[in-house]
Amino acid sequence: CVDIAKLPKETGMFTYDPGFTATASCKSAITYIDGDQGVLLYRGYPIEQLAEHSNFLEVAYLLMHGELPTPTEFKAFEDEITHHTMVHESANSVIKGFMHDGHPMAMLISMLGALSGIYHNDLDLDDPEQRRLAAIRLIAKVPTIAAASYRHSIGFPKSYPRNDLDYASRFLTMLREVPSEEFELNPVAAKALDLLLILHADHEQNASTSTVRLVGSTGANPYASVASGVAALWGPAHGGANEAVLKMLKEIGKPENVASAVEKAKNKDSGFRLMGFGHRVYKNYDPRAALVRKMTHDVLAQLNVNDPLLEVAMRLEEAALKDEYFVQRKLYPNVDFYSGLIYKALGIPVEMFTVMFAIGRTPGWVAHWLEQQLDPESKIGRPRQVYTGAVSRDYVPVDKR
Ligand code: ACO
Repeated sequence: CVDIAKLPKETGMFTYDPGFTATASCKSAITYIDGDQGVLLYRGYPIEQLAEHSNFLEVAYLLMHGELPTPTEFKAFEDEITHHTMVHESANSVIKGFMHDGHPMAMLISMLGALSGIYHNDLDLDDPEQRRLAAIRLIAKVPTIAAASYRHSIGFPKSYPRNDLDYASRFLTMLREVPSEEFELNPVAAKALDLLLILHADHEQNASTSTVRLVGSTGANPYASVASGVAALWGPAHGGANEAVLKMLKEIGKPENVASAVEKAKNKDSGFRLMGFGHRVYKNYDPRAALVRKMTHDVLAQLNVNDPLLEVAMRLEEAALKDEYFVQRKLYPNVDFYSGLIYKALGIPVEMFTVMFAIGRTPGWVAHWLEQQLDPESKIGRPRQVYTGAVSRDYVPVDKR
């Protein structure tokens, strides 16, 4: 038996921080959050101002480049994104290999893996132009893949990106158009989607972005790094919460059942949490949730949608915000709480909700990956552990066990 005190001593300070609640893994100039005040800035610009005045592609440019584009820069950026919306036909067989009820997040992860195979051999990560092009391709192609995944799940043929449309309109058209029928796009729906994408575009070192950075720190292919970010996003504690919120609201069903849902969420043994509530960083109202909340009312009214689940959501928020359990723990609605109701009003099926989050978050992922590639202090991410297992012991032959 080895005396643990005689094992080699670690050098330097060693911290134990499960969930990285107090450990900065990098320096970043992209997004600032003040969780106590409910402040969110992209490159210094308040999210409220970007939501009111900007558009998703301009925000994508801002995240990647650090500054808002001039009209000429924006036009060139938009043209380049539009130019790269097509996905190589050989990758489509990956989607075709899925059962029709395969989850679209699984298809997105696999398709990004396939792109890492397509854009691999000649990819020189030391070349800034090639890095930039990878980022552009990812922002351009993720909606095309997302739409193809959904269409596969309903047995529709793949549709091609309409490059005469803006980013959000193009995605909605690809998703919803029916073969041999004229598709009429509702501009209110496109505007609402664009706004939701802005609100999801970045959120500093969240689980999926940290995953992209961790994988990126090994020098891995950027498409593979983003595929791993999509996988991290899928969990219900992260981006999967928007799908879980809608399922929860449906289960609650009517305002009369809200009180018992709140009681259940307070009981740790129930294994039930209020989905769309709570956040690691925000200990105040999530500023994105405040914007989505207002938007939900506006969009549903403009689209003439009367969704009884909105009433359930409002009563649930009201009840939780008055409850001592939620007040004490500073649990407020997060961005996912209301977003599902808007997606639903836009005719986007619930299995696609987390994919929608992934489309929005792609500029954030690639901006962080690009920033990391330029960071002279960046090194391979390699957390340590506090070992709790057996100390060194001798192998026991099978007949002696
Ligand atoms: N419902 C009920 N209780 C909750 C909830 C909730 N939604 N969220 C946290 N709590 C409780 C915990 O049980 C814990 O209570 P305790 O101190 O008595 O043990 C306390 O609040 C703190 O919760 P933690 O899980 O320690 O907080 P953490 O920062 O680790 O987790 C998280 C944050 C994962 C977002 C959590 O609040 C949660 O699970 N929320 C529901 C899922 C969700 O909405 N996720 C989306 C996050 S935002 C995003 O990714 C876009």
